[in-house]
Amino acid sequence: MKFLVANWKMNGDLEFADRLISAVKDISTQHNVIICPPFPLLFKFQNFPHKLGAQNCSYLEFGALTGEVSPLLLKELGCQYVIIGHSERRCIFNESSEDIYKKFQLLLRLNLIPIVCIGETSEQKSQWREILSEQLALFKNEQNSEMIFAYEPIWSIGTGFTPTTDEIHERISAIKTMIQGKVLYGGSVNQKNSSEILQISSVDGVLIGGASLKIEEFIKIIDF
Ligand code: PGA
Repeated sequence: MKFLVANWKMNGDLEFADRLISAVKDISTQHNVIICPPFPLLFKFQNFPHKLGAQNCSYLEFGALTGEVSPLLLKELGCQYVIIGHSERRCIFNESSEDIYKKFQLLLRLNLIPIVCIGETSEQKSQWREILSEQLALFKNEQNSEMIFAYEPIWSIGTGFTPTTDEIHERISAIKTMIQGKVLYGGSVNQKNSSEILQISSVDGVLIGGASLKIEEFIKIIDF
């Protein structure tokens, strides 16, 4: 069973959510399909037969944190998964590994499953092992087998470029020596490359950005 995670980022609206839900609700699959829409669209997925996730959360349950969203509220809305530490959060919003680790601990305490994103930039390509090891340092002693990591090389996100299948296998196998848990691949996953990537033995699933917003393409990816 693989994880097929749709990360809509800051895209989609009420009408798109309705269309996506009616297009995928009758698809039966043995895999874990997880849709991660923007926060205001989560309510649309109340009777959704697949799984629901969020793209971020606060590191606290409640409090004076204007503009933040509590993981408790995400849980109430039906989320079982929360993506944390996406490279866009790390690079654009300056989130540190310490910030991400605080969110991670809170999510596990609330029985939500974190999907922790990691990955190197194009300048760091030759030092990928050191970079991934640094990003994973705080997580190395965690023993929860449900937690999920997503290896997303930053140079591959939204660019149409992916590592070779051998490189993906090498990186993900290395990550699996550093932490417990499942490891997904993310970065320019599309209808053409998804089945090849999902066949890599070390890959537990994929995180899909742009292609998850094209309903027909997304259906082909999850219906493999
Ligand atoms: P992409 O995005 O599939 O559009 O490359 C993946 C991600 O950022 O999670």
